[in-house]
Amino acid sequence: MCGIVGYIGEKKAVPILMNGLKKLEYRGYDSAGVALLDEGRISVVKCKGRLSALEERLDMINSGRGHEDCGCGSSAVYPERGRGSVRRHDELIDSAGYLGGRIGIGHTRWATHGEPNDINSHPHLSNSGKIAVVHNGIIENYMKLKKFLVSQGCCFLSDTDTEVVAHLVEHYYDQCGDLVAAVMETVDQLEGSYALGVICNDYPDTLIAARKDSPLIVGLGKGENYIASDIPAILEHTRDIYILEDKDVAVLTRDTIMIYDNYGTLVQKEVFHVDWDVEAAEKSGYEHFMMKEMCEEPKVIKETVGSRIKGGRIVLDSISITPEYLENIDKIFIVACGTAYHAGVVGKRLIENLARIPVETDVASEFRYRDPIINDKNLVIIISQSGETIDTLFALREAKKRGARVLSIVNVIGSSIARESDDVLYTWAGPEIAVASTKAYNTQLAALTLVALDFAYKLGSLDTARLNSIIEELKTVPDSIEQILYHREEIQKFAAKHYNAKSIFFIGRGLDYALSMEGSLKLKEISYIHSEAYAGGEMKHGTIALIESGTLVVCSMTQESLFEKMISNIREVKARGAVVMAITQQKHADDAAKVADMVVTIPDIDPLLAPIAAVTPMQLFAYYMAVLKGCDVDKPRNLAKSVTVE
Ligand code: AGP
Repeated sequence: MCGIVGYIGEKKAVPILMNGLKKLEYRGYDSAGVALLDEGRISVVKCKGRLSALEERLDMINSGRGHEDCGCGSSAVYPERGRGSVRRHDELIDSAGYLGGRIGIGHTRWATHGEPNDINSHPHLSNSGKIAVVHNGIIENYMKLKKFLVSQGCCFLSDTDTEVVAHLVEHYYDQCGDLVAAVMETVDQLEGSYALGVICNDYPDTLIAARKDSPLIVGLGKGENYIASDIPAILEHTRDIYILEDKDVAVLTRDTIMIYDNYGTLVQKEVFHVDWDVEAAEKSGYEHFMMKEMCEEPKVIKETVGSRIKGGRIVLDSISITPEYLENIDKIFIVACGTAYHAGVVGKRLIENLARIPVETDVASEFRYRDPIINDKNLVIIISQSGETIDTLFALREAKKRGARVLSIVNVIGSSIARESDDVLYTWAGPEIAVASTKAYNTQLAALTLVALDFAYKLGSLDTARLNSIIEELKTVPDSIEQILYHREEIQKFAAKHYNAKSIFFIGRGLDYALSMEGSLKLKEISYIHSEAYAGGEMKHGTIALIESGTLVVCSMTQESLFEKMISNIREVKARGAVVMAITQQKHADDAAKVADMVVTIPDIDPLLAPIAAVTPMQLFAYYMAVLKGCDVDKPRNLAKSVTVE
């Protein structure tokens, strides 16, 4: 949620900040801005809209054109703001010279406090214009702080929670005359979550960063250094980074990086070397990240599974869970949000079926506040692509506080969730940029299958022949997805007939019901078509009233034992006029075709593994529907990739 990038060095900061923000736009994209420090003065350029709007505004200023050409109505650049005064853009065009700064901070926003507009965009300035701040997260006590600051004569311009940070830093700076101390004092007063970038015109060689519950990294360069919310933003400049811990404050100059912990003690961090390629975070010729990421599914599943099957056995080196521990736990909880939660619902059925341990699933935002009955006899499995989802992170902390052991399934190495878990099983999906999660979901399912098989082996709950056959089939899943992707045009053609649908239902039984939840989420988040997922047998208890002539129903029917039941459910909706798209294994295609209008086949596969492959046609369907509707597939409205606010 929101992206931050900062630079200090010898080069012009604007291009570096803008390139970094482009890589972070998936984190939020309703407004953007930069603050540059040059010759002891801070210039801010910010505006509502996508980064392209900010780019246009910067070009306008650089070319020296007047604000009448710019189309901007209000204050956009504040090179030197007096206490409480805002300079209008027309007064500021002569500030073009200040955009040459070699220190700067940039921000792309996903609004939480205050609508997306020019004024609410970041960076925010202190009243004297001396201090500029970018922020990601939510300052929960901002009203209290604002009241105090107003009583001290501060004038607020925006509706954001962030603006209190700029004023508070200035308040303490005025008192102690030391910027680092002022930032430390400020973050001490903040409740909630923050990742911050701070510059001050009295400190022409300093960039300060701080974080709590929102991700922030420091990039190490030669004669230059960086801060960013996520690695792709600075990967073209450096592969060596420091991962900031909660309450760390980092002080960067061109040549040095000092990191202080919560107690103000200087700490020595280990350098984390990023070994994946910048290509992995770019579109590589695909029209959208989402398509690129779906096409990567075979490869990343192979990577997630491959090295963990050794000599026909599952070997999870990173997990130290013993048979004795498993024998002594009462229950497993799986906790996550969104797509990761849907993976958890599949995981529940896999673990219960294979390892015979009871599993409860919870949406993280509910788990945290429902006073769960949980103790040291419980294992909590946390699932998260980003490893930074705040609800999930707080659920993890709640579980640990109550004595549970935490195993996390995470994609981003070194993320907060990974660092705070007792055991981590990484999905090797690589960077996922499209807001709609695709390859991360398949790899989460693959990882959950590994966990279920590992637990089953350790508990002896599965006979060897069955265990071996699932392991062997798991290795074939990437090829199955390859075939599904190869035939994707069929799904595109079907979508072309239905992209004007107003409401679409997804139904399935057992694992197919869990899968339907994900199919439905994918469709609604990127195509904005209303959609619901229902258990096949549950429709007749109410929801079937919504089926009328032409209503589209997507039916997953990959579970052998429930196939006939699903045929009956399809007949029920067909009898009310529904148009049915069925997804099933090749061997059932003919039977499915007798009742459905369109059958998407997946290669024959063990029903327990079927969701890993059967989700791909659903993702493709959502994708084509959204593209045909002209939606912004990679950046759907109102959403952000990484949800680091509650
Ligand atoms: C999926 O398409 C969504 N964008 C969203 O539901 C996502 O899965 C959820 O926010 C959890 O994110 P995480 O896996 O990074 O924790």
